[in-house]
Amino acid sequence: MRILAINGSERGRGSTWQAAQEALAYAQGRGCATEMVNLAEHRIVPCDCGRCNSRPDPCPVDDSVGEIVDRMIQADAVIFAAPVHGFGLSSLMQTFIERAGVGHLRFERPLTNTIGAVIVVGRRYGHLDVHAQLLHNLLLNRFILVGSGFPVTIHSGGEQGVLSDLEGMDALRRSVDRIVDVGTALIASGTKLPLPGEVERRVGRTS
Ligand SMILES: Cc1cc2nc3c(=O)[nH]c(=O)nc-3n(C[C@H](O)[C@H](O)[C@H](O)COP(=O)(O)O)c2cc1C
Repeated sequence: MRILAINGSERGRGSTWQAAQEALAYAQGRGCATEMVNLAEHRIVPCDCGRCNSRPDPCPVDDSVGEIVDRMIQADAVIFAAPVHGFGLSSLMQTFIERAGVGHLRFERPLTNTIGAVIVVGRRYGHLDVHAQLLHNLLLNRFILVGSGFPVTIHSGGEQGVLSDLEGMDALRRSVDRIVDVGTALIASGTKLPLPGEVERRVGRTS
């Protein structure tokens, strides 16, 4: 099983990276292949075309978002990891989910049936708002969300950074366990879940 973490912190190797690394190391211990994308190490630019919501042709913006979306499509599970900034999502992660969404995911929903999960890291305030926003984005893109107990919201202010938040790290490991348990079972069963078009018809929408 392949798990990809997207680290949406402007500080490419900070607390969010550390939390995502912990999740991936734990997943490796359960036999998974893992990969991390640090958005800060890529070129992610906002779009000013004004046609994103109506254009049926591919996004013309020349940056790394398309390549990162391709890596998400290759994965069996994607973990969005982001810090809280100003009680909200870091602006880098915000830019990425906007660009990926309207530029690459909107029409085909190619991440349908990928397992999705969220890690939010911050000093103390606003974690659940950011968590909810990222969950909504996963739902929009028709990911499979696996409940694992409390949301993975991690306080980064302790002496050992994210590792000091024992309850947060426990939630993180439980979340990885659920990702791996459900993902492994789905892969082993060979179940073919409905494709995006079929999902569209099922909920009564064709555009
Ligand atoms: C611009 C900025 C705004 C922040 N706003 C918040 C906030 O609203 N709530 C909070 O709990 N932490 C806030 N923090 C603290 C970060 O979320 C925290 O330090 C986190 O560990 C940073 O992750 P990183 O090391 O991956 O960048 C803020 C940090 C920065 C740089």
